Amino acid sequence: MLRTHTCGELSAKHVAQQATLCGWIERVRDLGQSSFIVIRDRYGKTQAVLPPQASASLRETVKQLKLEYVVRATGTVALRPAGQENPNMPTGEIELHLESLEILNDCQTLPFLPSSPDAPSEERRLQYRYLDLRREPMQRAIMLRSQITKKIRDYFERNGFIDIETPILGRSTPEGARDYLVPSRVHPGQFYALPQSPQIYKQLMMIAGYDRYVQIARCFRDEDLRADRQPEFTQLDMEMSFVDENDIMGMIDGLMQHLAREILGLELTLPLPRMSYDEALRRFGHDAPDLRFGMEIIDLTDWAKTTDFRVFRGAADAGQFVRALNVKGAAEEFSRKRIDELTTFVQEDFNAKGLAWMKVDAEGWSGPIAKNFSEAQLQALKQRVAGERGDVILFVADSYETSCRTLHGLRRRLGAELKLYDPREMNFSWVVRFPMFARDEEENRWSAMHHPFTAPLDEDLSKLESDPASVRAKAYDLVLNGFEVGGGTIRIHDNQTQQRVFSLLGMSPEEAEHRFGFLLGALRFGAPPHGGIALGVDRLVMLFAGLDNIRDCITFPKTTKAQDLMTDAPNVVDDKQLRELGLQLRRSAGTE
Ligand code: AMO
Ligand code: AMP
Repeated sequence: MLRTHTCGELSAKHVAQQATLCGWIERVRDLGQSSFIVIRDRYGKTQAVLPPQASASLRETVKQLKLEYVVRATGTVALRPAGQENPNMPTGEIELHLESLEILNDCQTLPFLPSSPDAPSEERRLQYRYLDLRREPMQRAIMLRSQITKKIRDYFERNGFIDIETPILGRSTPEGARDYLVPSRVHPGQFYALPQSPQIYKQLMMIAGYDRYVQIARCFRDEDLRADRQPEFTQLDMEMSFVDENDIMGMIDGLMQHLAREILGLELTLPLPRMSYDEALRRFGHDAPDLRFGMEIIDLTDWAKTTDFRVFRGAADAGQFVRALNVKGAAEEFSRKRIDELTTFVQEDFNAKGLAWMKVDAEGWSGPIAKNFSEAQLQALKQRVAGERGDVILFVADSYETSCRTLHGLRRRLGAELKLYDPREMNFSWVVRFPMFARDEEENRWSAMHHPFTAPLDEDLSKLESDPASVRAKAYDLVLNGFEVGGGTIRIHDNQTQQRVFSLLGMSPEEAEHRFGFLLGALRFGAPPHGGIALGVDRLVMLFAGLDNIRDCITFPKTTKAQDLMTDAPNVVDDKQLRELGLQLRRSAGTE
C-alpha cells in the first residue's frame, strides 16, 4: 500500500509515529518560513506542516502544489501547538511534520472546487460527476447508501431469505409505466423489455418453492421524472410464501426498526401504525400522508348545506365536497398577498376553482366571505374547525378527488413553509386496503391500482364483477415522512381468480394467454399462497440522509430529461449497429 494511514485516522495516540498519507490537496497556506497543507481523502482531512528546517527539495515540491493535486506525504505525527487545535476536525489535535512529499498526479484548472462549501449548479455537478462525488455531502450519501444496503442484506440473511438474481433482458412487466425496450439482433423486429420490477420472476420463484426471496434489484421505468423518481432505480425486492399481509408488514417493520437503530440510533416502536386508504384520503387527502404534523382535513359539506353562500352551498348541493384546513395561528403571517399566492398555486397546480378563506380574530370572523354567513352558522363553524383567535381557515369546494389533491398540496406546502415538523424526525406508517382498481375515464376501462397480480380482500371477492369500484386489495404501502417508500401485495395464487382479474382489466383470455401465459401456466402447477413488497432504496437513502432529491444519493443519476450529462447518454448509434438490429430511423427521430 502506498499509505500507512488514511487522512481521517491520525490522532494524539499516534504522536511521534511516522505516517504516510495519500490524498488530494484541499488547501495550501504558505507562511514563508513554514507552510500548511491540508490533504483530503474520503475518510477525512489531515493538516501537514512544512517545518522551517525542511530541505530545499522538499520546499521546491511544496511550491509546485496546486489544489486537487494527488500527493503522498510522509512525516512524523505531532501535537499541534497549544491554541492551534481544531475541534471541528477529527484530526484537529495533530499535524504531520513533513519529511517527504511526492506528487502522484497533477490537476488542471477545475470547473469547480470540490472543497468549496457552495455547491455548483446541478448541471455542472452532473457533467463532472466524478468531481462532484469528491464533495463531502456526496461522499457521505454514497457511504450511507452502502451501509444501508449492507444492513438490509444482514437483516434478510438473518431471517432466512435467499438472495436471488433475475433477468434484466426479459418480457414486459405490467407495473404501469412505459417499458424500456432492447432490440434483438438475433430476432430482427423483436424486443426485450427491461424489467419495471422483478415482479413476475419473484412470483415464479415462489411457485418453484424458494419461499423467502430477496434481491436488491435494478428497475427501469420510462416515466415522467421528478425529484423522487429516476428512470433506473433500485428496489429492495422481497417475496414470501405461506403468508398474509401481517407477515409481510411485520417483516418490514423489523427491517425499519433495524435500519433506524443501526443507521440513525433511533428506536422505533412496533408495529408501525396502519391506516386504511380511505382514511388517509379523508384525513390527509393523499395515500402517502406526512404524519409529522396535524392540520388534518375537516369536512364541512353538511355545514355548507346549512348556509346560503353560493360557492359552498352550490358545491354541496351538487354532490361535491366543502373541505377545509385550519392553519393554526397563521392570521398575522397570511397577508392578502400570501393568500393570493396560495390561490394561484391551487388553481395552477391542482386545477382547483378557487381558495376561500376566513380568519378568526378578536371580534369573531374576518375575510371577504364572512358576510355570507349568519352568526349561528359562524358559531357552528368555529366549533367544527376548533377555531381559535389567530387561525386561518382555508376552504376548497370541489369534487372529492380535486379537494383531496388540492388540500394535500396545500398541507404539504404549508407544513414545510411554516416549519410544522422537525426535519430530522422519521415518521413511518402503513397505508392499507387500497382499492383494487382505478377507473380510467378517458379510455373507459379499469386499470389495476397496484398490478394485476394483486389479490382482492376475501370479503370483496364476490363483488369483483358486480361492483369493481368497491373491491379492495390485500395491498400495503410503506410511507416515510410523506413519501411512498414501498408497496406490495398478497398475490392471486389461483388461475381462475387471475383470469377474472385479467378479464376485468379488459384482457381477453387469448390476450392474457399471449402476454402472461407462462404465469397462468405456472399458477396451475401447485402455486403456494404468497405475497411480497418492494422498497425504493434510493428514496429510503434520500430520507435517511435527510436529502430532498433522489439524485443526491445516486452515483451517476439522470436529469429530469432522462439524460446522463457526463457520458451524454442517450446518444446516436452507428448505422452499422442499426442495420445489424434490422432497425431504420424515421427522419423525425433521427440525427438531423
Ligand atoms: P411499486 O411500483 O410500488 O411496486 O414500486 C416499489 C417502490 O419502488 C419505488 N419506486 C421508485 N423509486 C425511484 N424512481 C422510480 N421511478 C420509482 N418507481 C417506484 C417506490 C415504490 O414504493 N413489484 C411491485 C412490488 C410488489 O408488489 O412486491 C412494485 O414494483 O419507493
Ligand atoms: P367569488 O364569489 O367567485 O369571487 O368567490 C369568492 C371566494 O371564494 C374567492 O376567494 C374564491 O377564490 C373562492 N372560491 C371560488 N370558488 C371556490 C371553490 N370551488 N372552492 C373554494 N373557494 C372558492
